Amino acid sequence: MFPREFAWGAATAAYQIEGGWQADGKGPNIWDIFCHEKGRVFEEHNGDVACNSYELWEKDLECIQQLGLTHYRLSLSWARLLPDGTTPHVNQKGVQYYNKVIDDLLACNVSPMVTLYHFDLPQALQDQGGWKSPDIATLFDSYAKFCFQTFGDRVKLWITINEPYVCAKFGHEDGIHAPGLKEPGTAAYLVGHNMLRAHAMAWHSYNSFYRTKQKGAVSLAINSDWHEPLHAGCTEDIAATERYFAFTLGWFAWPVFVTGDYPELMRSSIDAQSKKMGCSGSSRLPSFSKDEPAILGTADFFALNYYTSRKVKPGGGCGKMCMVCDQDAEVVLDPSWPICGVSWLAVVPHGLRKLLKYIKDTFNNPAVYITENGFSQVGPLQIEDVQRSGFYKDTILEVAKAIQEDEVNVRGYFAWSLLDNFEWADGFSVRFGLFHVDFADAKRSRTIYQSGRDQQKKRCHLTCHIEKNPSKTQLSYCRHAA
Ligand code: GAL
Repeated sequence: MFPREFAWGAATAAYQIEGGWQADGKGPNIWDIFCHEKGRVFEEHNGDVACNSYELWEKDLECIQQLGLTHYRLSLSWARLLPDGTTPHVNQKGVQYYNKVIDDLLACNVSPMVTLYHFDLPQALQDQGGWKSPDIATLFDSYAKFCFQTFGDRVKLWITINEPYVCAKFGHEDGIHAPGLKEPGTAAYLVGHNMLRAHAMAWHSYNSFYRTKQKGAVSLAINSDWHEPLHAGCTEDIAATERYFAFTLGWFAWPVFVTGDYPELMRSSIDAQSKKMGCSGSSRLPSFSKDEPAILGTADFFALNYYTSRKVKPGGGCGKMCMVCDQDAEVVLDPSWPICGVSWLAVVPHGLRKLLKYIKDTFNNPAVYITENGFSQVGPLQIEDVQRSGFYKDTILEVAKAIQEDEVNVRGYFAWSLLDNFEWADGFSVRFGLFHVDFADAKRSRTIYQSGRDQQKKRCHLTCHIEKNPSKTQLSYCRHAA
């Protein structure tokens, strides 16, 4: 059953939609620089203009209203607010922009969920070592306090960092995201570590200085696929699956929700691999200092980004020092899972239900917001996106089952994404929106997809159903939904 106060939202991120990369005093960030280097992004696309939401915010608001959303998840561009990343230099135009966005949302009865960091570090901070530098944690904390102070009277749901796994691995191990570093087996662990330190400091700041007055909640958005052994019952595959979980979801969720430290399996696997390669000395996985704010307990809810599922077996490494060799686990797709759009996105709605149950059991039944989930389209444009519409219906049914049958405390669901937008290394070639955006049109016109229209209908039926039949569950409605 979906509770009456369930959050129905859609999500976006600043760099993916705003454009205005040099407008009104914004500083450059690592994605501005990365995209302007040759060969980084599909067909040299960039977010210079993107959906132009910096100028067209009101159009986005119309889309949000058209869908009937109760919540909207957006991210703040750090370099738009603080051009060199530090608080002595505030860009008032940036503050005005986000003030308007937040005020307009509230005026339309839409609650903002605000992410402080969604992949776009100010370049000035990258030049000082970025997320590899230990100093980044205090710089992030200052930025976070500035945002709580400036917007926290109206924002009640905060995400500090979006997908630390993706920032660390794609940006610093694989080099396929900004800042494009390829330092396998070392940098990602350092970046993940500093992201956890930064998150924890910001959470403690909120807790000590803002919570009593502002009464909001703070978490970090953790991405995770659902993983299961390639062969059920095969001991090696089961062990590989455990390692895979430890190196992905566990890497960030374990310190925050369970022990204040990394999963033991992660550290022992890394150290065993170092030994095998003849590297002595301290672990490549850093340790948390007792003199710094504790990591344990620094999330007021579990924010989950779920897209897909994988089967797991041992192996996959290159024989050199890298994360895959450390985890000694590789993923494969089940051939029965349909692929939508991008090759990595196998459509497995029931994986979300299993993952939600796993989160409930492993992390002590936290309140969960699904902060991202979606379905991509590539190739010819299909406004009548029947498959995506079916995907949302199936997925929402799985969420309903997780709530009703597994008693997972799910509080909200945010579709990725409100709009087609700049899909990182894939540029504009991959479309995730509930609204299509015409990037060939200077006005960036927005057109609702069928999946968007169906969401709209679903929302309306859902409200009517619960109001007429308070004892019946949304699950029964979903089964009969057109
Ligand atoms: C997430 C990311 C989003 C979006 C989505 C679809 O990893 O947070 O920004 O790009 O994937 O690929």
